Amino acid sequence: MNRLVNQPANRPANRSMHRPDVILTGIKPTGSPHLGNYIGAIRPALALARRSPEAHALYFLADYHALTLVKDPVRFRDLCHELAATWIACGLDPDRQVFYRQSDVPEVFELSWILSCSTSKGLMNRAHAYKAQVDRHTRGHMRSGGDVDAGDVEAGVNMGLYSYPILMAADILLFQAKYVPVGRDQEQHIEIARDIAARFNRSFGDVLTLPLYLSDPSTAEIPGTDGRKMSKAYNNTIPLFGSREQLRRAIFGIKTDSSPPGAPKDPGTSLVFQIYRQFADEDRTDTMRNRLVQGRITWKAAKEELFDLIDGLLERPRAVYEELMADRSRIDRLLEAGACSARELARPTMEIVRQAVGR
Ligand code: ADP
Ligand code: TRP
Repeated sequence: MNRLVNQPANRPANRSMHRPDVILTGIKPTGSPHLGNYIGAIRPALALARRSPEAHALYFLADYHALTLVKDPVRFRDLCHELAATWIACGLDPDRQVFYRQSDVPEVFELSWILSCSTSKGLMNRAHAYKAQVDRHTRGHMRSGGDVDAGDVEAGVNMGLYSYPILMAADILLFQAKYVPVGRDQEQHIEIARDIAARFNRSFGDVLTLPLYLSDPSTAEIPGTDGRKMSKAYNNTIPLFGSREQLRRAIFGIKTDSSPPGAPKDPGTSLVFQIYRQFADEDRTDTMRNRLVQGRITWKAAKEELFDLIDGLLERPRAVYEELMADRSRIDRLLEAGACSARELARPTMEIVRQAVGR
């Protein structure tokens, strides 16, 4: 991940001058983490921190964002622990990076309210996640032959979903984050955070840093087993830290075309190959590409190789993951310590923001 996709001039907020750059990203615990989350968000975010030792890197569980969807408290807690263990198993080092749970940082919610008071409702109306939900409801009503009434179609949209982008802006702006590594589906949210910051600055002075998203087009949208974007919402994921059996089953469930065993196969349209290339080095990727093109490998054998590759790479992280999941109080302690550091980093921004609005 090395390309700035949205490059407008980033006027530095005067408050953030002479401070290290801040890299920040979060994931919401709404389901078990999958290969798309790893390749699109976790791996590039950790690589960015490694490449920028002078920057402050913050990673967090966007747990209160998940409340728009998750209504079962036991499952909620499990998902938070799973996500925390996933980050650490994938290489996050809590001694070097600030790792915390959003809900342990109350300043996020204070800033979220302040920002919502200078954010127009129209900006929220344009957010993809909200629009997609309204579309789903509208289609549902049309299918059932009913008149489409604005009240009905919005009934399934909770206010958390509606104002989700403002909370996300608060997550980012609270730390004056400059770079936010995310997959493609989150790019609009970062643009909204920029708009929110710019509007706040127009009213109150040069207070907030305008963030930029970072996403690499080659990893920004990993396909799931059915060819759509891999997503918890589509039930097409390959789990990161499920059992080996679950991993095998998911990989063998990847959709392939019906080319017979000895026929040439198109790597460009092959989901198996698109996932394989994210994990294999260049030599192995070239070999696999040639074998497909020359019809020297069956889909079954290609899936077997994909399984062996991922399973081998996950062996050590899986051990770390399982060890952490067996000692959840250790996860909680790590997150609490991270929240103390995060609150310390957030304090100067909140002081300036409160002062700027006249409190
Ligand atoms: P999901 O769609 O499964 O609910 P999230 O919205 O929780 O995933 O995404 C967490 C992070 O992982 C975000 O930065 C998102 O852009 C990234 N991400 C999710 N799915 C993919 C994917 N299929 N390819 C690349 N990145 C992804
Ligand atoms: N909306 C992000 C997702 O669905 C999670 C998130 C919340 C986030 N706050 C953030 C990501 C701040 C980056 C920065 O994955």
